[in-house]
Formats: sequence, C-alpha cells, structure tokens
Amino acid sequence: MLFDTHAHFDDPQFDEDREQVIQSLRDYGVGNVTNIGASMETSRQAVALANQYDFIYATVGVHPGEVDELTEQDMQELKNLVLNNPKVRAIGEIGLDYHYEDADPDEQQFWFRRQLKLAEELSMPVVIHDRDSKGKCIEILEEMDVRNGVMHCFSGSAETARKLVDMGFMISFTGVLTFKNARRAVEACQAVPLERLMVETDCPYMAPEPHRGTRNFSGYVKYVAEKMAEIKGVSYEEIVRITTENAMRFYQIKNV
Ligand code: NI
Repeated sequence: MLFDTHAHFDDPQFDEDREQVIQSLRDYGVGNVTNIGASMETSRQAVALANQYDFIYATVGVHPGEVDELTEQDMQELKNLVLNNPKVRAIGEIGLDYHYEDADPDEQQFWFRRQLKLAEELSMPVVIHDRDSKGKCIEILEEMDVRNGVMHCFSGSAETARKLVDMGFMISFTGVLTFKNARRAVEACQAVPLERLMVETDCPYMAPEPHRGTRNFSGYVKYVAEKMAEIKGVSYEEIVRITTENAMRFYQIKNV
C-alpha cells in the first residue's frame, strides 16, 4: 500500500466531499496519509483528522507564508497539540518561502528557527518547505544541526539533494516529477538513494500528469510512485514497498 506523506485534506477544496474522498483512498491502494499542518488553524484540523481516521497521521507547524501573526502562545499550543495527541508525528510544514513580494525574510527566519527549536525540544522530525530561499533554508538547517527531516516537494538540483542526504534528510517528491519539464526533479531523484525517498501529493495542489491542473488527492500518489520506479529502474511494487517503509520509519509508525 502507498503512503502519501504530505496531504492537506483540511483544505476548503475538500469541504463538499472530504469524507467520501478519504473513505475511497484504500480503493486507490493508499494505506496511510500524513495530513500536514500549515497554520495554527490547519494544524488543529490536521490533528482532528488524524483522531478521526486510523490511517491518517498529522503534523503541526506554521508555513512561512502564515507566520505574520504568530505569538509565543501559539508555540505553546503547538507543543500541547504534540504532547496530547500521539498521532502527531512531526513539526511542519515550516521553512522559508521568498516567492511572493510581500515576504518578510527576517520574520520568516525567526519563526523557522523558533519552530526548529520546538521540534528539537520535542525530539520530533521536521517537514521542510523551501521555496526560492536561495540556500538560506539549508543554511539555517545546517546552522541548527537539524538531521531528522524531510525536504518536501523537492524542486532543487541533484547537488542540493545529495547535500541534504548527507545531512541525514529524506527527500520527498510530488506530481512535479511527472511534469513534461521535470528534468531537474528527475535528475535530483536519480541522485537520492532509495532508502531516502518518499512520495507525496501535496493535495489539493500539484496534481500529477495525466491529471495536472485538477484537484489533487492521495489516490493520485501512484503516478508519482510509477514515475519514481521508472527513474530508479526498479519495479512499481518495489517503489511502493520502499517508500512506504521509509515513511513508516520517518514518521515512527509501527506495522502497516
Ligand atoms: Ni504542503
């Protein structure tokens, strides 16, 4: 069974049919999902989903685009969400995102460091979002000696992928791997050892080919796994087995 390691089923795009979509996942060969928190509100929702469905796990954390009103009290709440809910398995998604013009690098870096510290305090792995930070995100991870993490929706070079692997990181790929112009992602995937790879949808975004541009969901993670099998030169079954084992290890989940 596949493990979608990064999904946002709390997203309003699932408001009409969330229950049905989630209940259908086993028919698509999906055994487990991690629902990722990206703000205070979606962190609470991720925990609620994990507590509702036995095969859904959660992370809590605040995405760099959502940090502008964060407070120290929020950090305490994140901590309590972890301590009170055993299905919370990582802090994330956290990181840097300089894509938009209104991004405030200092503020983002402050809360990124603060949440890395929280993860350290709680001995939790981290789910990292890095967009257009031009190396700053990895610099902070190195500076804080973070070793237990995943770089989600990886879009960097093969060289960067190798560097992250050396640091101890997992590398996770989305449907971007299936896009026609994905040469860079394909090269990066080639550079990552099998035991460090994970698959994800980042749904409702990033739908893989042949569904690009539509609402994504965990059932489409098989397209990412198929493409990854092709790139790594192993069977589809082997990629499913390995990426699921990797995800179980990363999120510290016992038995399938
Ligand atoms: Ni995400």
